[in-house]
Amino acid sequence: MFNSSNETILVTGCAGFIGSNFVPYFLEKYQNYNLVNLDLLTYAGSLENLGECEVNPRYKFIKGDICNRELIEFIFSEYGIQGVIHFAAESHVDNSIKNPGVFIETNINGTYTLIDVAYKYWMEKPFTYKERFLGTDTSVSVKGEVETSLPRFHHISTDEVYGTLGETGLFTEATPYAANSPYSASKASSDMIVRSYHHTYGMNTVITNCSNNYGPKQHDEKLIPTIIRNALKGNPIPIYGDGKNIRDWLYVLDHCKGIDLVYHSEKSGETYNIGGRNERTNLQIVDRICTLLDEKVPKEGSYKELITFVEDRAGHDRRYAIDATKLENELGWSADENFESGIIKTVEWYLEKYNRKL
Ligand SMILES: NC(=O)c1ccc[n+]([C@@H]2O[C@H](COP(=O)([O-])OP(=O)(O)OC[C@H]3O[C@@H](n4cnc5c(N)ncnc54)[C@H](O)[C@@H]3O)[C@@H](O)[C@H]2O)c1
Repeated sequence: MFNSSNETILVTGCAGFIGSNFVPYFLEKYQNYNLVNLDLLTYAGSLENLGECEVNPRYKFIKGDICNRELIEFIFSEYGIQGVIHFAAESHVDNSIKNPGVFIETNINGTYTLIDVAYKYWMEKPFTYKERFLGTDTSVSVKGEVETSLPRFHHISTDEVYGTLGETGLFTEATPYAANSPYSASKASSDMIVRSYHHTYGMNTVITNCSNNYGPKQHDEKLIPTIIRNALKGNPIPIYGDGKNIRDWLYVLDHCKGIDLVYHSEKSGETYNIGGRNERTNLQIVDRICTLLDEKVPKEGSYKELITFVEDRAGHDRRYAIDATKLENELGWSADENFESGIIKTVEWYLEKYNRKL
């Protein structure tokens, strides 16, 4: 059991890419939090990602499903959970096209189960936070000043809920949702569930919608690891369609710092977009990585010769780009990495992983 003077946060899905970067960052920065990590260890999660945290007395891993209500109720009462940061999801668009059902189950039902248990535990049990702050007068709404004194539920979401952009314009927090893939539709639904628990029950929620992350520990199936791995093996490097789809790339630790700021921010019910202002086409990404590999692991001819265009993803969104002004102005966030510094760190990390000398 943890040191009881610390606050204990339930983090979900932290054996995956972003969560496994977040946990060591957060444990090192704050000594006054314990973290319970609930992760099902699907194909996308690996405890190897968290090796450095295993021995930390303020960290506990539990293998389990966010759809398992009994387990979540047990975790809330056993550990006295006082906050949630919810990363767990099915996250790969291609998989959602092949098999949408598991995205509906995990991303929608899982988020519902988690926030509903949090609501019941924090706001409905005898001696709830609501009563502690407002007394037993049930006519008093919990909404308002008191809200932010309640434990916080932070939902991690994506810019993909906004759909696709033309050549110009940026997604702001006011952009209407227009999800185009089963993945983004399931994330949009989960955002709405979280929003509804704030508006209906006065829960202290926040949502962050971020752009494409890159950096260490990303699963092999995603674009940047796929490029590096295939290049090193001398295999064709597959690029969808004409390679001109644009994403706004965010270094994963900059995302973690944004989550930290939003989790600790004052206003409840808010949404913040997090993006690195690093728009690149997939062709620019593969081109830059191949140039770096040409320098670091030279071979006869350039790695660029391996680039192969393959049939486009069904319903492939053309362009995503985030306006992070709200996060920058209200909470003072800025990215530490630009794309150039971030991609060098990333390529070096994967070269180590794939055991190649620099
Ligand atoms: N990676 C990105 O570029 C990106 C961009 C925007 C938003 N997001 C969001 O950030 C969050 C984390 O993304 P990621 O890239 O780290 O994902 P990931 O796929 O790398 O990791 C997901 C983790 O969730 C776990 N998980 C899956 N189903 C579960 C279940 N039913 N119960 C418990 N755990 C389960 C997996 O085992 C895995 O460890 C997701 O909510 C995703 O939608 C990611």
